[in-house]
Amino acid sequence: MLDKEAAFPTITVTSNAASLQDHAVQDHVVQDPALAATTQTRKADHIRICLQDNIECREVTTGLERYRFVHNCLPDLNRDEIDLTTQFLGKTLGSPVLISSMTGGTEQAKQINYRLAEVAQQYNLAMGVGSQRVAVEKPELMPTFDVRAIAPEIALFANIGAVQLNYSYGVDECRQLIDGLQANALILHLNPLQECIQPEGDVNFKGLLNKVEELCRQLSIPVIAKEVGNGISGAMAQRLIDAGITAIDVAGAGGTSWAKVESERAENPIQHQLGITFADWGIPTADCLRQVRDIAPTVPLIASGGIRDGLEVAKAIALGADLVGLARPFLQAACDSEAALHERVELLLAELKTVLFCTNAATPNDLRKGERLKQI
Ligand SMILES: Cc1cc2nc3c(=O)[nH]c(=O)nc-3n(C[C@H](O)[C@H](O)[C@H](O)COP(=O)(O)O)c2cc1C
Repeated sequence: MLDKEAAFPTITVTSNAASLQDHAVQDHVVQDPALAATTQTRKADHIRICLQDNIECREVTTGLERYRFVHNCLPDLNRDEIDLTTQFLGKTLGSPVLISSMTGGTEQAKQINYRLAEVAQQYNLAMGVGSQRVAVEKPELMPTFDVRAIAPEIALFANIGAVQLNYSYGVDECRQLIDGLQANALILHLNPLQECIQPEGDVNFKGLLNKVEELCRQLSIPVIAKEVGNGISGAMAQRLIDAGITAIDVAGAGGTSWAKVESERAENPIQHQLGITFADWGIPTADCLRQVRDIAPTVPLIASGGIRDGLEVAKAIALGADLVGLARPFLQAACDSEAALHERVELLLAELKTVLFCTNAATPNDLRKGERLKQI
């Protein structure tokens, strides 16, 4: 442990925000060094802001607090035999926990990804990397995302913004990202609000669903549609599934607010206020889960957005999620220390097991059976 800490100390946070304006991007040219520099700067800013500032939603909540488990005073279980093993997209995972997509593209991001991947491998957690757009712009940055050598067995998800399909990215670029990680699935993130508030946002979402459909047709691995904290409704999930999307990550409102994060990066007062106005925009995570499960009872479903402990993981599973993702809590722990990250995972799993035990559920799937979760 000590040796590893020496080689992998507390991760320092940097920012090059001053250079942002110099690289404002209107048009997209793959492998443009200025574009790659802008993307790298944005990634460094996101980590810095997500660690330092209050960027959780102001008033909107996940909605999970509206539910409570019914306590079972006499579980017919041995707690030590509770099995958290989970099947997702053909992989067997150690537990229904996902380290949500966050970062890559800088030296600091590489350290974070490597640390996250170590813990993912140890506990057999699924893991997503952050948007790999920068690795298309600058292929030599792929190693900052590529954690396969560290985590050879985990379910690993590549990531790109769906909107990039309108900005000269196509099947070839997506294959490049997938191959670079030996990924098990590709996450396409949908982030219209974030793009509106980002100084260099890509806001042409016209006709994207057809491009998503074409991409799903051509790729040989599953494609997951994911929001970034504003949620996916049942109706939109249906359209995405009809287009060939294999799984949905609702990434609902109630946790990290990307409107707030981008308002911290604003280059003028209007952009700043825009982010504040929309700080609480979106569909709460619990509402997304219910809506999507109603229209798609069997679609592989990921809950994320504001999940902060194992009790909330359990509630999300009871509401229909197969897998539950956390982003910012893992970022904070990873940047703190390797020990802090291990502690976070241990606590999360202990909390989840405690819910299972005290609701007489032998497996996460059992949480969905009977009347274990009540709306209050
Ligand atoms: C520092 C940071 C960077 C992120 N970058 C990405 C990204 O590149 N792609 C993506 O799909 N989501 C990204 N997200 C969004 C998360 O995956 C997640 O959907 C969102 O933060 C809500 O989860 P949380 O409340 O647990 O943080 C990022 C989150 C954080 C904290």
